[in-house]
Amino acid sequence: MNILVTGGAGFIGSNFINHILSKRDDLNIINLDKLTYAGNLENLKPVEGNKNYTFVKGDITNAELVDYLFRKHSIKYVINFAAESHVDRSILGSEIFYKTNVTGTAVLLEAARRYNIEKFLQISTDEVYGSLGETGLFTEKTPLSPNSPYSSSKASADTAVLAFYHTYGLPAVITRCSNNYGPLQFPEKLIPLMIINALNNKKLPVYGDGLNVRDWIYVIDHNKAAELVFEKGKPGEVYNIGASREMKNINIVKLILNKLNKGEELIEYVKDRPGHDRRYAIDSSKIQEELGWKPSFNFEEALDNTIDWYLENRQWWQRIISGEYQKYYELQYKNR
Ligand code: NAD
Ligand code: TYD
Repeated sequence: MNILVTGGAGFIGSNFINHILSKRDDLNIINLDKLTYAGNLENLKPVEGNKNYTFVKGDITNAELVDYLFRKHSIKYVINFAAESHVDRSILGSEIFYKTNVTGTAVLLEAARRYNIEKFLQISTDEVYGSLGETGLFTEKTPLSPNSPYSSSKASADTAVLAFYHTYGLPAVITRCSNNYGPLQFPEKLIPLMIINALNNKKLPVYGDGLNVRDWIYVIDHNKAAELVFEKGKPGEVYNIGASREMKNINIVKLILNKLNKGEELIEYVKDRPGHDRRYAIDSSKIQEELGWKPSFNFEEALDNTIDWYLENRQWWQRIISGEYQKYYELQYKNR
């Protein structure tokens, strides 16, 4: 079983490949990744030298390369993790978001159609639904209403995936997951950024009033759900994934400071993110009832694991924050 996994050098994709190849040897994974700022081959150390794993450096928007890989590896399965994934970066410049997330997905879909593949899994996000008020949950029937260039590019990709299912019968499924945390997450996202800033005694920039709510899930729980949808999800269907762990940003930040024995004077309220979605919360009853998935990690324990991972892997993030990242960080927070 040959699976083209895209974006497998990023946070969720690398956790997925490491996890799945640690327990299965009946599948071959071809990881196509452009190695953008967010892609890191160090993330894939556990599978280096594994006979069931092949890495290809390349861009999902490169139709010729994608066609060649489908042919060469007789690809019958695709899991598309590859994306520009950070909302703040999409606000700084949206072009690459539409190119990778929309055009890239369309290139993969075209190849998938030509080669009659058996399953296409699109890894999407709950952000396509937009923002919730104080109550209510996103279901799969919630209308798409994305507010950031990132989420609008992911929503566009989702509509392309469903269009290929309806028009060509492509056996495609979509997962829409809530905010992930865990080892190997690039330190531009809330949880790793706050852990690393706290460890460095740097200010922790909290946007706006800090009361925005995200629904948090440990990356392994997300990946187990994705694996299940890949195996058993019904073509043409969307499955929400979430662990029902809503948290206000400021409470997460305080929890991290507390766990690291740091004081709250490190918190700095900064100018809000433009178009900042107020609240995300997922109803995952469909995947629970139809496919039998449920989250297995407790938030506090998994957050502890995550903090421990960043404490034990300082070299991993020190290399990142001492490089190109510094320029982004300054641009992002100087004007806030
Ligand atoms: P990430 O930014 O950590 O990794 C993205 C990976 O894609 C990187 O390895 C990068 O090099 C690669 N990539 C980017 N552009 C590419 C291109 N044109 N061709 C080939 N590879 C390319 O992202 P992540 O957090 O691991 O997210 C993975 C997927 O999960 C994304 O599709 C994202 O929208 C979705 N998602 C993320 C979250 C979250 O909380 N991080 C939640 C729900 C859904
Ligand atoms: P983020 O990790 O960027 O994920 P997303 O925007 O995709 O939900 O942000 C999570 C929440 O944390 C979001 O409400 C924005 C907020 N946030 C801050 O307050 N400060 C920060 O430095 C970052 C990166 C995010």
